[in-house]
Amino acid sequence: MSFLSATHMTGGYGGADILHDCSITVERGEIAVIVGPNGAGKSTAMKAVFGMLNLRKGTVTIDGDDITALSPQERVHKGMGFVPQTHNIFPTMSVEENLEMGAFTRTDAEIAETMEQVYELFPAVREKRHQNAGELSGGQRQQVAVGRALMTRPKLLMLDEPTAGVSPIVMGELFDRIIEVARSGISILMVEQNARQALEIADKGYVLVQGRNAYTDTGQALLDDPDVRRTFLGG
Ligand SMILES: Nc1ncnc2c1ncn2[C@@H]1O[C@H](COP(=O)(O)OP(=O)(O)OP(=O)(O)O)[C@@H](O)[C@H]1O
Ligand SMILES: [Mg+2]
Repeated sequence: MSFLSATHMTGGYGGADILHDCSITVERGEIAVIVGPNGAGKSTAMKAVFGMLNLRKGTVTIDGDDITALSPQERVHKGMGFVPQTHNIFPTMSVEENLEMGAFTRTDAEIAETMEQVYELFPAVREKRHQNAGELSGGQRQQVAVGRALMTRPKLLMLDEPTAGVSPIVMGELFDRIIEVARSGISILMVEQNARQALEIADKGYVLVQGRNAYTDTGQALLDDPDVRRTFLGG
């Protein structure tokens, strides 16, 4: 069984269903990427995996545990960390306070150690730790958001468009850090608008269209697929 297994997810926000029999699985230490057009339901699928959506059908398991009925907070305790697409930092709090908020649910004594790991991963975050997070550049803010999620010591890190609004160089750097996180054994599930670049670092890719799985394959196979290229990757 996969480390994360979200199968047959069907549901929406109370009106018509947005997700239709959508399935996403991620193996341990793997980078899985979800791409697809605007409005395809990528963020909705992430919310469903994290327990922010009432599914009419479907099952979510992590490490073999059925967590379908659990709240987002309970899923954090099961090892999920989620960085939403928007409002993913507290802009009027300092960078360090943002990281401390991430550790809010932890009861162990090694919080400083995790913070040091975040600072090692993102030196710019350390440098700005006493500034308000809202004063940082877009790329630095995304680093804070990822760092905040890492403070819970997740086994699965879920990122909704981590490179939104950043330059190609900053995107490349962020992807390098994400690869580093995956190599440490943390599974990554990431939605990306920069589809081509994201599939290049993906072990597995999902193309979602209108709330359904349209294509699922290795990142490389999707990049090589003429239909996927023409329709979703700009040729
Ligand atoms: N809170 C909400 N309440 C009602 N409908 C919503 C809500 N959020 C999203 N939707 C609808 O669900 C559908 C899928 O939206 P979603 O945000 O999941 O798409 P997406 O693939 O993440 O798009 P984007 O690439 O623009 O981020 C859209 O039709 C959207 O209008
Ligand atoms: Mg979205």
